[in-house]
Amino acid sequence: MTKKSIVILISGSGTNLQAIIDAVERGDINASITAVISNRADAKGLQRAQRAHINTIVVEQGDHPDRESYDQVLIAEVDRFQPDLIVLAGFMRILSDQFINHYQDAILNIHPSLLPALKGLHTHRRALEAALQVHGASVHFVSNELDSGPVVIQAEVPVLQDDTEASLADRVLQQEHNIYPMAIAWFVDGRLKINGNDVLLDGKVLNRPALWKADQLVISEQH
Ligand code: GAR
Repeated sequence: MTKKSIVILISGSGTNLQAIIDAVERGDINASITAVISNRADAKGLQRAQRAHINTIVVEQGDHPDRESYDQVLIAEVDRFQPDLIVLAGFMRILSDQFINHYQDAILNIHPSLLPALKGLHTHRRALEAALQVHGASVHFVSNELDSGPVVIQAEVPVLQDDTEASLADRVLQQEHNIYPMAIAWFVDGRLKINGNDVLLDGKVLNRPALWKADQLVISEQH
């Protein structure tokens, strides 16, 4: 049987991409990363992909007058690899409904907050400003509304008294590298599905997202 195909979209340093590449190489994710696509030619993650002998493609935003025409080109590039799953790994562009509908129920994103808290940008700074005691990251299915699709798994990160934006961001990122490969492995193994707003793990609806806390996985209340 041919392996499932994953296409990963990035814009930046690609540390999540690296965690996913490593998980594929270890055999923890039973799929092939068939392409890494960036909207920026200078994204460091492209070098990570090249080192792992993965196809890289750049679709520069400057070349396209509006979101729809950009996304049309993006869809054409992604479709070449017939992906079973699209993974957004620090892809800092809002996707059009056209893109999201084309790959319905098969797009995952990671966001650096405990959604629904702190949608949007600068989440670590805003967590500190709001004096939150617990911050973290969320893996969610992508829906037509920004940072709002059903959440699969979250990692909690305690905020420390002397945290700076950078130190907090760093600890959250470490946890992102744990939960994203996990969720992707569930998806490619057919264990993770979405039904409307419900997330199903092993055929049962998650009443709340799975939780990665103090290096342990907690799955509470399924029906
Ligand atoms: C990660 O922290 C990811 O959660 C965030 O961008 C960073 C990418 O880092 N994504 C978003 O903010 C999406 N709204 P990486 O390039 O090192 O994986």
